Amino acid sequence: EKDGYPSFMEKEIHDQPSAVEQTLLGRLDESGRLTLDEIKIDEAVLRSIDKIVVIACGTASYAGQVARYAIEHWCRIPTEVELAHEFRYRDPIVNEKTLVVAVSQSGETMDTLMAVRHAQEQGAKVVAICNTNGSTIPREADAVLYTHAGPEIAVASTKAFLAQITAAYLLGLYLAQLRGNMFKDEVATMLTELEAMPAKIQRVLDEIEGDVKDLGQAMKDASSVLFLGRHVGFPVAMEGALKLKEIAYIHAEGFAAGELKHGPIALIDEGQPVFVIVPSPNGRDSLHAKVVSNIQEIRARGAVTIVIAEEGDEAVKDFANHIFYVPEAPTLLQPLLATVPLQIFAAELSSAKGYDVDQPRNLAKSVTVE
Ligand code: F6R
Repeated sequence: EKDGYPSFMEKEIHDQPSAVEQTLLGRLDESGRLTLDEIKIDEAVLRSIDKIVVIACGTASYAGQVARYAIEHWCRIPTEVELAHEFRYRDPIVNEKTLVVAVSQSGETMDTLMAVRHAQEQGAKVVAICNTNGSTIPREADAVLYTHAGPEIAVASTKAFLAQITAAYLLGLYLAQLRGNMFKDEVATMLTELEAMPAKIQRVLDEIEGDVKDLGQAMKDASSVLFLGRHVGFPVAMEGALKLKEIAYIHAEGFAAGELKHGPIALIDEGQPVFVIVPSPNGRDSLHAKVVSNIQEIRARGAVTIVIAEEGDEAVKDFANHIFYVPEAPTLLQPLLATVPLQIFAAELSSAKGYDVDQPRNLAKSVTVE
């Protein structure tokens, strides 16, 4: 079942090119338009929504946070991402003009289910992004967009995360197309970029897995690891930290790189390992330069910097103690690549410490109690 891998998690990390590919499959009609037949919500309703609220827990919430950047950019609809257990208890402003997107691998997470019910009671339509056919959340939602990642056995979520981002992007492109925010050829171009991702994810696995594992082994006695990212790299940083907490029981935290000087930089001292997810140098604005200067700042204070950057990015090399290059991709799609080394690192570190990678202590695969 593990296809010869030592753990389900490792197998599932390797399933990721196919998880993304399967989630994208069959989305174009003869005229080259994106179709999402599953979204059986009246188009007039989808045109009238004025807010999107993504509700989810854990890794699924980070997928939602990544997707928010894309959805707001493509659809110009204000989008919030909220932990399902917080959402319900704060009297959220949700109505017929709100589209709620519930993201859940298992489809059984009680916190998310309760939030779905609460949103529906307020008149909102709910689209579920789910990996488990026929589970409770998709049954109760108004529409479902299934991720086709295949069964995820390891407690720590990997391939579901990439598939959730992919599905949420499809939803964003679909809404942008429907509402006239994007031209047909703009949608088609982004879909072509998405379709190129499985091969790029495969390249990450083929080209850097060995080196990331060596680093995981070398760092097995680390007592704290920090992760920095900006824009879509920020939720990726939090996801990298969550993986490490879950399966290697190491204190880890993900920060927005811009937040460093507002507090977290005080944590940096000699030898502190810090992963930094560097945006593409070809991307928008000055994101790249800002993150590079963050790397310089923490290096100057003794941090051991582990940099994930786009291939060809020479500017970061001088400040990196370790560097892992991932293939070039549009900024919004970089999370599908940059997350992979963080997953490999966590799995390797966990196994180097002799822990059960697939069944971490105190955790269950699906949390069916509130
Ligand atoms: C992290 C992890 C959890 C789940 C969370 C939501 O590796 O597995 O954080 O992502 O419990 O679960 P689902 O997606 O099943 O609702």
